[in-house]
Amino acid sequence: MTRHLKKVELHCHLEGAAPPSLTLAQARKYNIDIAAYLKDGAYVWHDFASFLQCYDKISEVYKTEEDYALLTETYLGELASVGTIYSELIVSPDHGKRIGLGADAYIAGVCEGIRRAEAANGIVARLIVTGERHFGPDSVVGAAEYAAKARNPLITGFNLAGEERMGRVADYARAFDIARDAGLGLTIHAGEVCGPFSVADALDVVRPSRIGHGVRAIEDEALVRRLAEQGTVLEVCPGSNIALKVFPDFAAHPLRRLKEAGVRVTISSDDPPFFHTSLEREYELAASAFGFTDSEIDELTRTGLEAAFVDEETRKVLL
Ligand code: ADE
Ligand code: ZN
Repeated sequence: MTRHLKKVELHCHLEGAAPPSLTLAQARKYNIDIAAYLKDGAYVWHDFASFLQCYDKISEVYKTEEDYALLTETYLGELASVGTIYSELIVSPDHGKRIGLGADAYIAGVCEGIRRAEAANGIVARLIVTGERHFGPDSVVGAAEYAAKARNPLITGFNLAGEERMGRVADYARAFDIARDAGLGLTIHAGEVCGPFSVADALDVVRPSRIGHGVRAIEDEALVRRLAEQGTVLEVCPGSNIALKVFPDFAAHPLRRLKEAGVRVTISSDDPPFFHTSLEREYELAASAFGFTDSEIDELTRTGLEAAFVDEETRKVLL
């Protein structure tokens, strides 16, 4: 049991955390047919591409500022109930635009949800704006410009998610330049679906302090040494990696080997109901599947707080 342990999550996509029951209620409210994507209380997908499709489709049932406030408040409440003190939510203004809500109202709804959850449960949250690779480089630049200009104190980071096999990191360099110049923390999905080259590209082009996943770096010893030497923090999501068949099972998952090689690692749930997981389950797995002791798990949490995209004053209070 890890209920008693303080928890932190750095890598969770907001729409990816939508409980199927809430998504179903939303679909009914707006009379949207999502039967092909949500069946018997579970999201339907069979590989990485169909997972992304399902994600984009079910996002369409969250339509208003209040829908987003409710979704955010619901997920943060769930996190707080298992001892989570800090969460970074990956949000995509493009998803707000695609449903006709607009980026400002989308973010305003999410911020309202954060305020409600903090008032009710004390959980602190920040936002990482993401571009989606499969929406193309121009839309990713648009997301970076939005994050840079928003001057919203809750937006503290920039990310690149979506179809990792689409283009190379260099195609998205301008977006990261914009985000870096605006003082945002940088992280990027790499080494999840693609091999070590994508992690090396991310380090060379983006120079991020964190990498989303990064686990396939294990295929290249020199790259693992580089990550350890540079102190790059990996946002590792073991349940997601197994569900997406990045590794065949937990025994083959490199979380422990990366940590033992000196790489700074943290654990997160990515898109919990899609992958039949939760942050609590990821903490349980750290103990049961990876054999970490309570104090080693506390180290993962502490690394998360050290790497968090949050102001120093708040970090000190959380640490
Ligand atoms: N968007 C939501 N979840 C993702 C993942 N695991 N990888 C890339 N993009 C995503
Ligand atoms: Zn992710």
